[in-house]
Amino acid sequence: MNVLLIGGGGREHAIAKKIKESKRLEKFYSIPGNPGIASLSEVISDANDCESIIRAAKEKKIDLIVCGPEQPLVEGLADLARAENILIFGPSKKGANLEGSKIYSKEIMKKYGIPSSDFKSFNDYDSALNYLQKRMTYPLVIKADGLAAGKGVKIAGTKEEAMKIVKSFMVDRIFGKSGDSIVFEEFLIGEEMSALYITDGKTFLPLLPAKDYKRALDDDRGENTGGMGSYAPHHSLSKELQETIDKDIIKKIKLAFEKEGIDYKGVLYVGLMLTDKGPKVIEFNCRFGDPETQVIMPLLDCDLLEIMNATAKGKLEGHSLKWKNDYACCVVIASGGYPDSYKKGMPINFTINPFDFIHAGTKYDGKTIVTNGGRVLNAVALGSSKSGAIEAAYKLASKVNFEGGFFRKDIGK
Ligand code: AMP
Ligand code: GLY
Repeated sequence: MNVLLIGGGGREHAIAKKIKESKRLEKFYSIPGNPGIASLSEVISDANDCESIIRAAKEKKIDLIVCGPEQPLVEGLADLARAENILIFGPSKKGANLEGSKIYSKEIMKKYGIPSSDFKSFNDYDSALNYLQKRMTYPLVIKADGLAAGKGVKIAGTKEEAMKIVKSFMVDRIFGKSGDSIVFEEFLIGEEMSALYITDGKTFLPLLPAKDYKRALDDDRGENTGGMGSYAPHHSLSKELQETIDKDIIKKIKLAFEKEGIDYKGVLYVGLMLTDKGPKVIEFNCRFGDPETQVIMPLLDCDLLEIMNATAKGKLEGHSLKWKNDYACCVVIASGGYPDSYKKGMPINFTINPFDFIHAGTKYDGKTIVTNGGRVLNAVALGSSKSGAIEAAYKLASKVNFEGGFFRKDIGK
């Protein structure tokens, strides 16, 4: 099979490594890629929007497109591909809207009785302020409706803080039109778990649940980021929990896909809060998680391409996933200042093979590899115990440095 992988982060490098293991792989292309992905595939450099991706796919006789990030899916890449009879692993625009619009997602959850936090949505500043004036209980979770690169969720401890946040979203428009509508959510207490499913809309295959560390600094201090590290399998995973999630969430979202006419062939990422009243959905994403994928992929002990191909064809029934009996840990090495502003172009000093790391925000600058993003590299390692995987990942992280680079010291703890 000729495969085209869309995306250029750590998640996509981890997916690329797994696809590369497949016996069914013939030619392997990527858009836009990064040095890690380029070490495994041929980068197509002149495609930057959905139309040019489809053009490139036709030119290169691609049998399957695999889409990593949410943006092209929310823009309708899968619908375009299917209209051209090109197989794609990724949901339709309507399915991706579960991530593209928090309001849509909350409304679907409410309509189908999927456990989640209570919410109220607003598309008008005065009405939102009016609601805050009357509300007595804080903290309150405030979310921009649209995509905001993982930064559109704020937790307000007081009414005054909430009013400032709402003003920044709806009046100062820090996220542009993504913040013109907002959601207020009840604050949930519990442990978070990322439960991902590969699905063709009818069959749902659970991936090993992972734990993501979202805050920038140790002990969950600092700002929310895209994710500073992860491990799998999540320590809370049990047969009972899996059954509860299947019954209370997966069965219902499957019904929603059916009733709402949602064509969903790809990954459904279910962000959960494990509360004392059971698991509740914090968010749905329409793609693999980053950095969850970096620990899930190396534990997968079967042919990912085979599974993705069956998913894209809507023929996942009868397939199953196999897992190694190991643990995996990922430590994200980030640029100084991330998730706020940070410098790019810092030369990276590797004391081992650069491709022993998963590459996220890196690029070639002439002959050397330099930083090119907030999350730069991922140190991923396996172990037969969780502590062994953590130790090995930190040992790996110590083999690289660049000016301003930092990582959390408490991943997995
Ligand atoms: P989201 O992008 O919706 O996953 O939100 C980002 C992060 O904000 C989550 O991973 C949680 O840590 C936090 N969060 C979101 N919604 C809630 C909620 N209703 N209660 C508590 N924390 C939340
Ligand atoms: N790690 C969180 C996400 O991928 O949304």
